[in-house]
Amino acid sequence: MTTPALPTFPPGFVLGAATASYQIEGAVAEDGRTPSIWDTFSRTPGKVAGGATGDVACDHYHRYREDVALLADLGVDSYRFSTAWPRVQPGGRGPVNPAGIAFYDRLVDELLSKGIDPSITLYHWDLPQELEDAGGWRNRDTAHRFAEYSRMVVDALGDRVARWITLNEPWCSAFLGYANGHHAPGAQEGTPALAAAHHLLLGHGLAVAQLREAGAREVGITLNLDQVTPASDSEADQRAALRALTQHNLVWTDPLLAGRYPDSEQETWGPLADGSYRRDGDLEVIGAPIDFLGINFYFPVVIADAPHAEADPAERTAMDVGTRQVERPELRHTTMGWPVDPPGLGRVVADTFARYPDCPPIYITENGSAEADVVDADGQVHDGDRVDFLAENLASLAEEVAKGADVRGYYVWSLMDNFEWAFGYDQRFGIVHVDYEDQKRTPKDSYRWFQQLTAAQRASRTAQG
Ligand code: FCB
Repeated sequence: MTTPALPTFPPGFVLGAATASYQIEGAVAEDGRTPSIWDTFSRTPGKVAGGATGDVACDHYHRYREDVALLADLGVDSYRFSTAWPRVQPGGRGPVNPAGIAFYDRLVDELLSKGIDPSITLYHWDLPQELEDAGGWRNRDTAHRFAEYSRMVVDALGDRVARWITLNEPWCSAFLGYANGHHAPGAQEGTPALAAAHHLLLGHGLAVAQLREAGAREVGITLNLDQVTPASDSEADQRAALRALTQHNLVWTDPLLAGRYPDSEQETWGPLADGSYRRDGDLEVIGAPIDFLGINFYFPVVIADAPHAEADPAERTAMDVGTRQVERPELRHTTMGWPVDPPGLGRVVADTFARYPDCPPIYITENGSAEADVVDADGQVHDGDRVDFLAENLASLAEEVAKGADVRGYYVWSLMDNFEWAFGYDQRFGIVHVDYEDQKRTPKDSYRWFQQLTAAQRASRTAQG
């Protein structure tokens, strides 16, 4: 393969790889784990491609040592994984499950024995089904339950964990979960999605307080921020871009980083934004200082004004904000159908610091691409497109860092192929190939490239003392 140039970063810059519990663990009924909303959703006919479930996934629950060895060979500084709430606290209420937390205890120790810093996401979408049955994120109480569960995890592992991420991509939990139903729990309800968004934010804030009290080292949240460009200079497209930005980003970043609800929310949602689920004092809880902002980024969007699907504003969903994503046929698209436009990564960082001058340091907590990978006759996976994707995205990030942006690290999504939510096992994001028949792991060319990057980063650290 032709090897793209290796980007360079400051010595302290962290390189890592990321995964999430339901996507890799399997063992869904072992050691006391109870079903999550994803167990239920994936068993509902027609919801996940090929009827796939996370029952076995990558069998990481039993193969974690092999997977940590892959991380060690990769040379990463840190590994981002998530703890499964229904494993740690079955049913989402009551005492900690010793057998469940013991798994993460073993994983953390295994990582530390190889010199890899654990970075824990407390909620990567696997809500205990019992909590959903009681209303899920529509309920304010779920925010309190989440804080309680977070405390259990930090009490057990806090002494050994470098970085805590409360929520992963609450946009997906709220809007794909409760507005258009593409994700678990599959609700298509409109307004409750905005209440769910608020309760997720509140849950984050309450969890931050618990993490602080328990002495956690670095605390943050991960958002999938959009990088939005208006389709034209027209007033209509500019306003549409603002509505898209509000729906995707500002609904999170304004309360978290600026202590306010977005000024543009009325224009975005009109009568949907009734705010009855908001209480005095919530903004203070949500806006408690964090040590870093995690950003997951895959592709930027170009947004044009578009008519609402429903003429009556009261009928509109929380997703329908009168916008259209402009297609970009001139670009390569990954197997997810996502356009490849690497400078978007640098731009999302620049946009975030421009909008929020007091934004804490940023970590890119996910970035990667799904490609049509095959194991070749030589037993290797030659994923040149992914190598180029990673090299170009990291180059764009390195340029922003060189200009002074306070970005502290980058985690590739994903360490290995896994259960890609509604796409099941059809989409491969890993830098390690997984054969789901026999669970064989095969490092791809992109893994080798990333290995060179971590080696170069270590060498530059040594050189700079
Ligand atoms: C993100 C999710 C992650 C993975 C990637 C492709 O939205 O956080 O679990 O599915 O997309």
